[in-house]
Amino acid sequence: MGRLQDKAAIITGSGSGIGKAIALAYGREGAKIVVADFDKHGMERTVAELKELGVEAIGVQVNVTKEEDIEAMFDEALKAFGTVDILVNNAGTADRMQAAANVEDEVWNRVMDINVTSVMRGIRKALPIFLEKGRGTIVNMASISGLTGGRGGLAYTASKHAVVGMTKNVASQYGPQNIRCNAIGPAFIPTPLTLNMANVDSFGMEAATRGTSLMPRPGTPEEIASIALFLASDESSYLNGVTIAADSGWSAY
Ligand SMILES: NC(=O)c1ccc[n+]([C@@H]2O[C@H](COP(=O)([O-])OP(=O)(O)OC[C@H]3O[C@@H](n4cnc5c(N)ncnc54)[C@H](O)[C@@H]3O)[C@@H](O)[C@H]2O)c1
Repeated sequence: MGRLQDKAAIITGSGSGIGKAIALAYGREGAKIVVADFDKHGMERTVAELKELGVEAIGVQVNVTKEEDIEAMFDEALKAFGTVDILVNNAGTADRMQAAANVEDEVWNRVMDINVTSVMRGIRKALPIFLEKGRGTIVNMASISGLTGGRGGLAYTASKHAVVGMTKNVASQYGPQNIRCNAIGPAFIPTPLTLNMANVDSFGMEAATRGTSLMPRPGTPEEIASIALFLASDESSYLNGVTIAADSGWSAY
């Protein structure tokens, strides 16, 4: 019996990096997985790997910034698995480390659409399902930038603080209805998001990485996935509204 046996989980951004590791971790523990990603090839690869493990999985190509795609993601999940038990709002983007004086409106709007508005839309769609079932779990991918001030650009930092705030708000208002909403705040995980940064703001990058030498080490997608597994399972039943700093103690200094 797996830790998520027969639970149906939607995981956004699971065609790559942390989201993919979460999909594999949940699948190994008996969950049925909706792999939702913008990138069709990444999505198909994750679905294929899940199927090789014997996991029930479907792929849905979505742009999480589009309301109709969020609707379709839930419709497909309900069609395939009859219900949704877990929503992981993981899809996210970076802001080229733009410091406050250098923020471009296009970057600000893109980061807010992907990192904030999509999380609201996913939660808004999941809640009626969870309320009807009398239970449900949401795991949001925040960042250490949602708990500290200076480790990313302005838009990214603001967006991840918004995720931390939404996590607390939902936990506070829907906890009594047996719905849990928690988040994870990873530090540095080598994934395409962090390894392929281009056109970075040099002032912002220098300022944001002043304390990097104090970071004990980078993490792995699998280490973040094991926290996401804990948060989705009943093992974390007494946690609600928290953002777990996943940074090997970096922010504890
Ligand atoms: N890697 C890190 O160091 C780090 C640290 C803190 C937080 N995070 C957060 O973790 C999450 C996952 O990032 P990752 O590092 O695995 O990056 P990644 O680039 O490996 O994966 C992100 C996935 O999200 C998908 N995606 C992006 N925009 C989308 C959209 N509009 N609609 C649908 N899918 C979309 C991408 O196609 C990709 O598959 C993000 O929310 C990120 O902010 C990452």
